Amino acid sequence: MKPEPAGPPAARLPAGILPQVPLTALAPMQDVTDLAFMRVIAHYGAPDYFFTEFFRVHAQSQPERHILRSIDENSTGRPIFAQLIGEDLAHLTRTAGELLRHPVAGIDLNLGCPAPKVYKKNVGGGLLREPGKIDEILGALRAAVPGLFTVKMRIGFDDTRNFDRILELVNRHRVDLLSVHGRTVKEMYRSEVHYDAIAHAVAHVRCPVLANGNVTSAARARSVVAETGAAGVMIGRHAIRNPWIFRQCRQEFAGEPVTAVTLGDVRDYIERLYRATAVPGLAERLHVNKMKKYLNFVGQGVDDAGAFLYDMRRTETEAALFEACDRHLLADPARAFATEPYPGVIARPNCETPSLLADGCSLETISA
Ligand SMILES: Cc1cc2nc3c(=O)[nH]c(=O)nc-3n(C[C@H](O)[C@H](O)[C@H](O)COP(=O)(O)O)c2cc1C
Repeated sequence: MKPEPAGPPAARLPAGILPQVPLTALAPMQDVTDLAFMRVIAHYGAPDYFFTEFFRVHAQSQPERHILRSIDENSTGRPIFAQLIGEDLAHLTRTAGELLRHPVAGIDLNLGCPAPKVYKKNVGGGLLREPGKIDEILGALRAAVPGLFTVKMRIGFDDTRNFDRILELVNRHRVDLLSVHGRTVKEMYRSEVHYDAIAHAVAHVRCPVLANGNVTSAARARSVVAETGAAGVMIGRHAIRNPWIFRQCRQEFAGEPVTAVTLGDVRDYIERLYRATAVPGLAERLHVNKMKKYLNFVGQGVDDAGAFLYDMRRTETEAALFEACDRHLLADPARAFATEPYPGVIARPNCETPSLLADGCSLETISA
């Protein structure tokens, strides 16, 4: 039996934007939460914390340069945690050391990725089957990271049989912040979120917990915090749909009126995102396709019939894309953008977003 650690988590978390209200964080999303996207989010109201997409760690890995940019060129004014995915102790600690030379708020470990290609290698969500291995990894990373060391996990692989044991390890290795996506790996992205399991984590770990999974709006954030007792919320797909969500959460938490968003505002967001995601040399068709993966989520708040999504998905040029946007968003620009996604309007990437599909965020897996 290993001894229980003495004392509280090792370091202090950065202060939130508003003191005394629950924290917010943008969930790490591969191929989405890059520098450009974080800057756009910050324009509409930054979260308290950002997390990078995962850095893949293996024997030959070097921190990916495009992900490093989101750290080195972070102009959002908010701290950013660097997320790692891997299982080899020596290479995880080597990579943590390399990343600590950059302006990171801390190092985060991914214990949740559900893509079969990932978990079959026993990394990400795959590790939830092996608490013994998690014990070794947390021990090694805790020793290698003098500042903030955080973990993002799902509640189990097939079921929650290892959950308590892993929560105990979170305490033993003095993890500083735990983000819990309230689903098992096998539940992917579509099942109900088990907020009772997040509440269980809150009751059992010593560090603050961020509740993650289907936090669709500021009102939902408030009810999830009330239900789980979490220190705050981590929001992914619904921040793609609604980049105002972090500002709205702060307003809701502070008891202030929540910023109303119109379809005209959404048109502004799409244009800003288009400009931010332009890369020299990127062909127009590819840029339009790249936009579609964001707009798949945005479309969930535009109309209840999915008409915007239908038209947007068929465009191939910048002009056609913005013509579809104008038709659906500027016909009545003062109309409200829905606060909650319209039920039945499914956000699914099209077949032109190969990197999402390759990593298991397939049509069905990322649907809300
Ligand atoms: C496209 C996509 C990419 C993701 N990439 C990552 C990742 O790199 N690291 C990670 O920990 N989780 C990743 N996730 C999971 C999210 O961080 C989050 O846990 C999940 O989407 C549930 O939160 P939400 O309902 O607010 O979206 C990804 C999710 C999506 C949809």
